[in-house]
Amino acid sequence: MRWTKQVLMRANALVRKSAFSNRTFIRLLFGVEPLASATVQSYCEWSTILQRFILGRHMPRGARVLDLGAGAHAMLAIHVKKRFPDAVVLATDIVPERIEYAMRTVDRNGADVRCLVADVFERVAGRFDLILFDPPAIPTEDLASLGFEPKACEGLGERRCWSGDGGDDGLNVIRHFLAGAGERLTDRGRAIMCVNPLHCGRERLSALCHGAGLEVCRVHSLPGIVNAYVLANASGRLRRRPWLARISHR
Ligand SMILES: C[S@@+](CC[C@H](N)C(=O)[O-])C[C@H]1O[C@@H](n2cnc3c(N)ncnc32)[C@H](O)[C@@H]1O
Repeated sequence: MRWTKQVLMRANALVRKSAFSNRTFIRLLFGVEPLASATVQSYCEWSTILQRFILGRHMPRGARVLDLGAGAHAMLAIHVKKRFPDAVVLATDIVPERIEYAMRTVDRNGADVRCLVADVFERVAGRFDLILFDPPAIPTEDLASLGFEPKACEGLGERRCWSGDGGDDGLNVIRHFLAGAGERLTDRGRAIMCVNPLHCGRERLSALCHGAGLEVCRVHSLPGIVNAYVLANASGRLRRRPWLARISHR
């Protein structure tokens, strides 16, 4: 891994450790009362903060919302339910302990958010108007050079970091997500997927989305830190607006 990338990743870890593990910061930003925990490293990510500020622009009334990979604190899911009480919110994560913890935080906040252990869309029923996902996207080798040891999760195997490890090229979970996302979006549905540009640039990401039948409608950016890709089902949009298909063939 290049040294600049390593320095940026270490600086990022420092910020996350100070601000993002501060409960007052979390209360003010998300309106969520987090549980105190000895094992907590941070309550949120840069991507969580970016999504918190942009999701209002992509949230229709009475939306069905999926916070995929909600993490141990389900910060976004709880925030969405408090801010948009008519939304129906489901929070999922592949790691069972994270969902157990998230359920306790949901209870503590009195939020009506359903929590489910799920690998991407497995065991998740129905379609959604908004899907939020900050997938693991760091190549395994990069994590190894940062000193992350393989960590086992019962029944799931090993990853060097369950929040960050995206496999050999860092894109395994992203590919898995994109392959199923189209079928899980309603006609008006959008998915917001956050990716650090250090791990995957815009062009590569757009090509992956295109290959999965999705189009990138918009990109919100915290420059150099994280890009939030707003995705829609390309076929759905083309069905509703046939003139778009004519333009795209020119
Ligand atoms: C970068 S963290 C983001 C956590 C949270 N959304 C936030 O904003 O703080 C990624 C999360 O995705 C979860 N995850 C990883 N692989 C997954 C998969 N295949 N299916 C569902 N969740 C997954 C991880 O356990 C982790 O909690």
